[in-house]
Amino acid sequence: MSVPASRSYTIASIPGDGIGVEVTAAAQAVLDQAAAGHGFDLAWTELDWSCQRYRETGAMMPEDGIETLGSYDAVFLGAVGYPGVPDHVSLWGLLIPIRRAFAQYVNLRPVRLLPGVRSPLADREREDIDLVVVRENSEGEYSLIGGRHDVGLPTEVAVQQSIFTRRGVTRIMTYAFELARARSGRVSSATKSNGIVHTMPFWDEIFAEVAVQYPDVRSEQVHVDALAARLVLAPDQLDVIVASNLFGDILSDLAAAVAGSLGIAPSGNLNPEREFPSMFESVHGSAPDIAGQGVANPVAQILAGAMMLDHLGEPTAAAAVSAAVDAVVQMRTVTPDLGGTATTQAVTDAVCRALRA
Ligand code: NAD
Ligand code: IPM
Ligand code: MN
Repeated sequence: MSVPASRSYTIASIPGDGIGVEVTAAAQAVLDQAAAGHGFDLAWTELDWSCQRYRETGAMMPEDGIETLGSYDAVFLGAVGYPGVPDHVSLWGLLIPIRRAFAQYVNLRPVRLLPGVRSPLADREREDIDLVVVRENSEGEYSLIGGRHDVGLPTEVAVQQSIFTRRGVTRIMTYAFELARARSGRVSSATKSNGIVHTMPFWDEIFAEVAVQYPDVRSEQVHVDALAARLVLAPDQLDVIVASNLFGDILSDLAAAVAGSLGIAPSGNLNPEREFPSMFESVHGSAPDIAGQGVANPVAQILAGAMMLDHLGEPTAAAAVSAAVDAVVQMRTVTPDLGGTATTQAVTDAVCRALRA
């Protein structure tokens, strides 16, 4: 029985490429079910912005794409990138411009071991793997500043400029400390100030400055190489990890793998000030190797949907979606990446049933 909707949210859905299309369809079905059960409505607008569109029109999105998205309450994105279009062209033509135009400077990537899932690490239980990567999402190593010279000549040079600003680093550190305060009271900063002599000491200094304002939070800085090892050897020691754009990207795939699969890790590209829409997506990509087979794990995208509901102000529905996923995974209705034989559709149907129950 559904309750008449009194609250409605507009969502721009960009399924994108490869399994992005499959997992967004799955997640939308689950989110609609949750909405019906909790008295609100999700008004979806589906946009065909993708590599296919690029091949047909020469652009990943229309020229006024950002303006169009700006009028929605949130953006729900599948994945971008497919063989045939160079990745730097597709990603800088769609995903990265959205993150920047909407000042989605926090990329929040929670990872936990789901019930009944075996970590590839021996003898790890659920309480050992439950952490959040707070990834800086608007500057750092990802920049358009640089260039190629003497292309094709023996003297060819490529230069890529990292950008770290006081404002950018301070705001991501502050977000991480606030989150740590709300969770375990621990935050680890991923650095590499032994090898990268300008930006990373700057990163460390601002981490230390912000730490002074949070005497109740236990803070440590760890070189990212050692932190990668720690994620494998002692994930139980980690809770909130704050990292630059590139380091956070790598650590979040590693964390997802430690929790069993890339197919379980959601992410929120957040504009904490809510001046612009935030965007919710999986951590994983378009997985061309399994696209079109109906076996993609929809859990990451469904949990990204739960993060979106939470952000929209529907925490009860968000928690219900999360709990339904847990129940289904625990019953071992899982896709091959988690050792099961279920299809994307079977997992989706099971989550919808669990929500109705
Ligand atoms: P990927 O995450 O797409 O795939 C890596 C591996 O994980 C593959 O073997 C894939 O089959 C598996 N995998 C990923 N998600 C899965 C799921 N839900 N269920 C089961 N298995 C899953 O990474 P990649 O191969 O490096 O990238 C493929 C394309 O996606 C590239 O074009 C890349 O640029 C793009 N990409 C996009 C995003 C995004 O849009 N946010 C993120 C990462 C990669
Ligand atoms: C991610 C992806 C993107 C990133 C790529 C596709 C540009 O890997 O969202 O994790 O590195 O930000
Ligand atoms: Mn990534």
